[in-house]
Amino acid sequence: MMHGGGWWSYLSYDEEQEPPKVDRALLRRVWSYGRPYLRGLIGVMFTIFVISGLGVVPPLIIRELVDVALPEKDLGMLTVLGLGMIGVPLISALVGILQRWWTSRVGEGIIFDLRRELFDHLQRMSLRFFTATKTGELMNRLNSDVTGAQQAITGTLVSIVSNIVSVMAILIVMFDAEWRLTLLAVAALPLFVIPARRVAKVLRQVTQDQMEHNASMSAILQEAFNVSGALLIRLFGRWDHESRRFADQAALVRDYGVRRAMVGRRFFAALGLVSAFGTAAVFWVGGFMVIQDEITLGTLVMFSALLTQLYGPLSAITNSRVEFATSLVSFERVFEVLDLETDVPDPEQPIPISPAKGKVEFSDVYFRYQSDEVEGLEAVKRWRRTADAGPVVPQASTREWALEDVSFVAAPGELVALVGPSGAGKTTTSYLVPRLYDVNQGVVAIDGVDVRRIPFEELAATVGVVTQETYLFHDTIEANLRYARPDAGRSEIEAAARAANIHDMISALPEGYQTLVGERGYRLSGGEKQRIAIARVILKDPRVLILDEATSHLDSRSEALIQEALEKLMAGRTTLAIAHRLSTVRAAHQIIVIDEGRVVEQGTHETLVAHDGLYRQLYETQFETVA
Ligand SMILES: Nc1ncnc2c1ncn2[C@@H]1O[C@H](COP(=O)(O)OP(=O)(O)OP(=O)(O)O)[C@@H](O)[C@H]1O
Ligand SMILES: [Mg+2]
Repeated sequence: MMHGGGWWSYLSYDEEQEPPKVDRALLRRVWSYGRPYLRGLIGVMFTIFVISGLGVVPPLIIRELVDVALPEKDLGMLTVLGLGMIGVPLISALVGILQRWWTSRVGEGIIFDLRRELFDHLQRMSLRFFTATKTGELMNRLNSDVTGAQQAITGTLVSIVSNIVSVMAILIVMFDAEWRLTLLAVAALPLFVIPARRVAKVLRQVTQDQMEHNASMSAILQEAFNVSGALLIRLFGRWDHESRRFADQAALVRDYGVRRAMVGRRFFAALGLVSAFGTAAVFWVGGFMVIQDEITLGTLVMFSALLTQLYGPLSAITNSRVEFATSLVSFERVFEVLDLETDVPDPEQPIPISPAKGKVEFSDVYFRYQSDEVEGLEAVKRWRRTADAGPVVPQASTREWALEDVSFVAAPGELVALVGPSGAGKTTTSYLVPRLYDVNQGVVAIDGVDVRRIPFEELAATVGVVTQETYLFHDTIEANLRYARPDAGRSEIEAAARAANIHDMISALPEGYQTLVGERGYRLSGGEKQRIAIARVILKDPRVLILDEATSHLDSRSEALIQEALEKLMAGRTTLAIAHRLSTVRAAHQIIVIDEGRVVEQGTHETLVAHDGLYRQLYETQFETVA
């Protein structure tokens, strides 16, 4: 939808499109965010009345000046009027400060509430949501959309109310002085109500488009400038490609910005003309009336002063629909996110299991990654744009089910090894226990209770995971370890680090446990990170442990350190280990061999090696032996 041609091409925009209506439910919901700030809002309204009321005082002073003080050569009155001309703006300015204080308190308060609600809601979304959504787009909703929503309440509402109050005050004074001239001045305005409605619609659509393009631009920024992305761009030398990708998106944002600025300009220009005609008519007819001695010169001068104040607010009211509709877009975008339902919901009738014994059972489990519905923010967009919704579900897996008919039981305290070729579904299996995803069919149970019925907090406390990739927050090592158990004392943290064979390494760092790690911090090696992750889980002390052994080849010393740490970690817990080390499978009470999403063999190392199948093959080619 690029626009060629000159500036005039921006004047029209597919005006046929029907955006959603400003309905009552939406307004009620928007209002629910303003209600907690009722006192502040009343304060704002009060200041609006004072400031708008004061606005008509200077023209009244001018009339007195022209009609009374000057003809009567009254110096005392002249001084009083002069002081009034200073006093009025002074009071206005002081009340203005108060208004600023109240509006910013209300506005920032609403931003705070919306942000917090969004953050809380998004945190609860499933892993599926985060794999389907770009981080940058989420950031955008939390930043610009929230700010835009706040603008709807404090900016637009304040401007609408103050314009209405100003116009009322001005009209009252004008009518009181000379009603015929007043009618003449405002006669043409009702003509503009209908075009204003159409402009509002179009502007709302353009604003929506612009915000979407903004969000995509944020997404590109986020991808390019996080550490991993920056690394990749550099290593592949793809600067030009990235620059072009960004420039294309930024150009769209630019074009939509220009378009938004141009929407309804013909309308606004016409509105401007009305005020010119109105002013001219008032001067002409009013001048005539002064000559005929029907009104005083002071009244005419006052009228001309009031007129300059009248048309601005009057046209602002005429298009307040426009402004309000635009500001609602942000609210809608925020609500869209708040209304997304998580596909891993909290149990309605939770069954507590703690203290858990740790029996883990898979019964006839079927699972697939792609669901029939579109996920994440894509779902939101499709809802709005049925027209250009392309195929949004990527064909992620070649087979229909990532897991098919998987059943096995891990008794409390048992070590169960999951083995199989790459892409078989081992990691997927492990994801179902802590409910990173929910099964499509069948049941995953701990101690006989379906994991979907276990309260989330309990499930999180019962199941501990050491993933292939270790993620550390940008914080101190101590804080990263403490993440597992916030109330852990210093000695417990050190004990866990010792058990994970990482204490000596940490102590040798200049800042020890206070060393900053993560994206912008100290870069730990792969093996060190793994041991930190192990220490973190040791501290958490879960009944059920899931271990996705990293395949990275470490030197034998480092391997031995990890090996030893893992043995301590697994002792006494039910462990599902996605095993790449021979020592792990050898020690396992039970080995589950998975291929293409199905359990193909099951047994101990000895029985499976004796049987000439997939396990035997894997054993001969894949497992890493540790010296
Ligand atoms: N988020 C996802 N969306 C769609 N498909 C996925 C997703 N994650 C994994 N898959 C697919 O599911 C299948 C099983 O993947 P899984 O990660 O469980 O394999 P794995 O057995 O752990 O392999 P590896 O040994 O290489 O880690 C693969 O075909 C993979 O492409
Ligand atoms: Mg895996």
